[in-house]
Amino acid sequence: MLRFMSAGESHGRCLIALLEGLPAGLTVDLRVIDADLARRQQGYGRGGRMQIEKDTVTILSGLKAGKTIGSPVTLMIENRDFKIDELPAVYEPRPGHADLSGALKYGFSDMRCVLERASARETAARVAAGALCRIFLKEFGVNISSRVVSVAGESDQKKINKKIDAARKSGDTLGGIFEVHAENVPLGLGSYVHYDRRLDARLAFALMSIPAIKGVEFGLGFAACAKRGSEVHDAIYYSARKGFYRKTNNAGGVEGGMSNGRPLIIRCAMKPIATLGTPLPSVDIRTKKKVPASIQRSDIAAVEAAGVIAEAMTAITLSDAFLERYGQDDIKRIKRAYKAG
Ligand SMILES: Cc1cc2nc3c(=O)[nH]c(=O)nc-3n(C[C@H](O)[C@H](O)[C@H](O)COP(=O)(O)O)c2cc1C
Repeated sequence: MLRFMSAGESHGRCLIALLEGLPAGLTVDLRVIDADLARRQQGYGRGGRMQIEKDTVTILSGLKAGKTIGSPVTLMIENRDFKIDELPAVYEPRPGHADLSGALKYGFSDMRCVLERASARETAARVAAGALCRIFLKEFGVNISSRVVSVAGESDQKKINKKIDAARKSGDTLGGIFEVHAENVPLGLGSYVHYDRRLDARLAFALMSIPAIKGVEFGLGFAACAKRGSEVHDAIYYSARKGFYRKTNNAGGVEGGMSNGRPLIIRCAMKPIATLGTPLPSVDIRTKKKVPASIQRSDIAAVEAAGVIAEAMTAITLSDAFLERYGQDDIKRIKRAYKAG
C-alpha cells in the first residue's frame, strides 16, 4: 500500500527517498522533516562527517501548495561532501561491514563501490520519508519516540560518554540498545490471518533492515522466556468507562500480529560500529596479503541516531498498516473511517 524506496551514495550528489501511497490533503511542514534529519545527526560519539553535513530536505514532487496530492513524493537531501569520484579506492575489507561480501558478490576489487551505498548515510533518506509518515500519523495522535537504554552495557549518560571517550582513545567502537515507543496506536493494525500481515513481523523486518541492528524485541521480549505465563501475559479487564483495558503492557502493544491499543514498546540491539581506529586484521583483496582493515572516517557509537532511524522505520510501517485499515486516497475520508472505528 505504502511503498518506499531510497537511492543515493554516501558521497554521491544526494540522497533520494521516494514515498508512494500517502493520501492527498496532508499539510507538510518541511521544518518537521528537517528537525528529524538534525536529530539523526546528533549523539555523543559521532564522527567528523556529521560536522560536515547539515541535512535539509527539498521536496521534488508530490506536493502542491504545501499539501500532498496523492502522487509519489520525492524527497532529496543534498550531500555537502559530494566527492565520490575523487575518493581513493579501498582494497582492505573491514570485518563487520559489507565490504568483503559486497565486493565478491558484485565483482569489485575497489570496495568503495560497496561502502558508498552500504554506509548508514542512506538512513537520512529513511528519516526524511519517516518524518513525512510521522506527520500523517500525528493527524491521528500517534506519537513515536525513542531513547537510548544502554551503550556497551552502561545506562548512565555521563558513564556512557566516558566509555565512548575511552573507546575513541583506543581506536575502538561501541554498540548498545535503544527503545522505540509509539503512543496512541489504534487497535487492529496488522492481522493474524497471514504471516506477512503480522504487525510485529513487519516492524521487526523494518527495524532489522537498519544497518548494525542485530536484534529486535517487543515488550518484555527475551526476558519473558525465563518467566511463567501468569507473570507475562497482560490480564484483560472491562469497565463501562474504559471499555476493555489492561493493567500491564508486557506484550509491548502487539498480540496475534495486531496492535492491541496499548503503546508499542520495541527494543533494538545495535552491534559496535564496524570501522575501527585500531583496525582488525584483514586481507588485501588483490594481493591476498595480510593487512590492517581500512580506516574510514567513522562514528565511535551511534545508538541515539539509530533510535531516530528506528522511529522513522516504525512510522513508515505503522502508516502502511494504518492506511490498510482506514483507506488511502484522501485524508478527510481516512479521518471519517478512523472516527467510525
Ligand atoms: C546511525 C548509524 C551510523 C553508523 N555509522 C557507522 C560508521 O560511521 N562506520 C561504520 O563502519 N559503520 C557505521 N554504521 C554501521 C554500518 O552501517 C553497518 O554495520 C554496516 O552497514 C554493515 O551492516 P550490518 O552491521 O547490518 O551487517 C552505522 C549505523 C548506523 C545505524
